[in-house]
Amino acid sequence: MVTIGLIGIGGVGPEFMPQIPWSLEHFNPELLQQNPRLVYVESESETDHYAGHEVMSLDDFKALPPEETCFNVGIADGSARKHLSEELESHGFGLLGIYHSRSQCLAHTPPGPGILLGRAGISVNSTVGRSLLVLGASLIGQNCALGDYVTIGSQVCIEHTHVGDFAQVWNGAIVTPGTADKPRRIGQGAIIGMGAYIDEDVPDGAVMVGNPSRELRRNPVS
Ligand SMILES: CC(C)(COP(=O)(O)OP(=O)(O)OC[C@H]1O[C@@H](n2cnc3c(N)ncnc32)[C@H](O)[C@@H]1OP(=O)(O)O)[C@@H](O)C(=O)NCCC(=O)NCCS
Repeated sequence: MVTIGLIGIGGVGPEFMPQIPWSLEHFNPELLQQNPRLVYVESESETDHYAGHEVMSLDDFKALPPEETCFNVGIADGSARKHLSEELESHGFGLLGIYHSRSQCLAHTPPGPGILLGRAGISVNSTVGRSLLVLGASLIGQNCALGDYVTIGSQVCIEHTHVGDFAQVWNGAIVTPGTADKPRRIGQGAIIGMGAYIDEDVPDGAVMVGNPSRELRRNPVS
């Protein structure tokens, strides 16, 4: 039997689990035909069921046959998504994209594997890397380039903006757009806090908060 595991009960997993049937119907109909069981994967869980779904430990999940097992990682921290994705892909498990039934992805170039696209949109001429997470009511507008393991919270609208690998842009942040010739740049591993107002390029690793924004600290970027 095919199993689809969503890692992270405490993260954004519960927002995406109910979207899996619609997503399969539209993007992976061959998997839906196999009537997959949908499970949460969570090592710390004290319960064996959550919101109507079985909960498996990571070790039990890793023991499943790789050819019949897919997964995604519903954790907001892109580093955790990378770590767990690579570990499970090394076991031969398939990384499955999950799309909300009210999402719209118009990108000419297909998104990298493992996208988690909430009730949000991605515009025609934007590109996104591996394991992008976008929460609801956000829009990745024209001429955006999002790196790998980027996290975009809710109510974020960006355009003419390039976002580096592992960067996070949190709920309600305002990022004034660059131009077609000179896109706004959010650096690799940068964190834009909730509600921050960003009207300049943000360096790699910078943690920006407030309106007007200030740099809270600079995290090392590996
Ligand atoms: C940016 C962020 C990561 C910083 O977190 P942190 O490093 O733990 O920061 P702290 O809570 O220690 O606060 C440090 C200072 O920054 C200020 N600050 C933190 N976040 C802020 C924000 N979003 N806007 C304005 N000021 C903020 C604090 O008031 C504090 O100021 P002070 O030193 O003058 O007292 C965090 O605040 C944030 O915005 N996270 C987004 C999380 C989110 O949206 N989750 C949704 C999950 S679905």
